Amino acid sequence: MGISLRDKIVFVTGASSGIGAATALEFAKLGAKLLVCARRLDKLKELEPQLREAGAADVLCFELDVRDRDEVECTLKTLPAGWSDIEVLVNNAGLARGLKKLYEDDIENWEEMIDTNVKGLLYVTRTVVSGMIARSRGHVINLGSIAGHNAYANGAVYCATKAAERFITDGLRIDVNGTPIRVSTVDPGMVKTDFSRIRFRGDEERAGKTYENVDPLLPEDVADVIVFVATRPEHVVLQQIVMTPVAQANPFTLTRKS
Ligand SMILES: NC(=O)c1ccc[n+]([C@@H]2O[C@H](COP(=O)([O-])OP(=O)(O)OC[C@H]3O[C@@H](n4cnc5c(N)ncnc54)[C@H](OP(=O)(O)O)[C@@H]3O)[C@@H](O)[C@H]2O)c1
Repeated sequence: MGISLRDKIVFVTGASSGIGAATALEFAKLGAKLLVCARRLDKLKELEPQLREAGAADVLCFELDVRDRDEVECTLKTLPAGWSDIEVLVNNAGLARGLKKLYEDDIENWEEMIDTNVKGLLYVTRTVVSGMIARSRGHVINLGSIAGHNAYANGAVYCATKAAERFITDGLRIDVNGTPIRVSTVDPGMVKTDFSRIRFRGDEERAGKTYENVDPLLPEDVADVIVFVATRPEHVVLQQIVMTPVAQANPFTLTRKS
């Protein structure tokens, strides 16, 4: 039997699509208060009625670019009354850009991935965890990837950002040891979201090929696991969950249906 998150504040970054949107919806079903951000506020506004209908105790959507340190600090330190006691932080905002050999890749792609997946996650975490420490409660759940466990061809920098996420998760868990705060990472393999479309800058054909002849994970599969991690009894922490479609053994071993 898991703990109740009814009326508790769950903050999901990057909730405008994919895993983040599905995760917000799963927490809404538990009656949580959903704090959701992304750069595309219009997408969050489309999600808001679905969250309310699913059972969210309340919803607050706001625009945030996690790469902007000042914006992150200012926005999260000045949340409206009743929204600051964040119980669960899901650090989901992230992306891949490009798929090229390191020595041929565009440096702008590296900057964007590192700024979002590593520095953005750090900015949000620092701000939210300082409040968790003051309240002596909270749970941080980061979105890692199997890419953080094994590098794959043409993905050195994305894989490095997810390896960094894994070590940030482990390091934070050590830093909060002795407090009731829990720190987890959920590390999926291939999930069918906008991820590949963003990676290939809108090249639908190339993005579509990623999921050809394979049953990938769905965002709901990952959301289900995130909610499971968040609802374990308070003395239990699931430190790291690695999940893949059955057809995928690791980032480079994938069997497609013939
Ligand atoms: N799909 C996969 O196969 C897979 C596998 C393993 C791990 N992951 C990880 O899962 C997470 C979610 O990805 P997804 O697959 O759900 O992709 P997605 O559908 O493209 O969603 C990515 C989300 O991140 C947000 N985001 C990106 N940059 C942001 C920024 N600078 N500030 C705020 N929000 C930002 C996007 O919102 P806006 O564009 O509106 O800002 C969007 O809501 C990522 O961390 C990704 O690395 C994905």
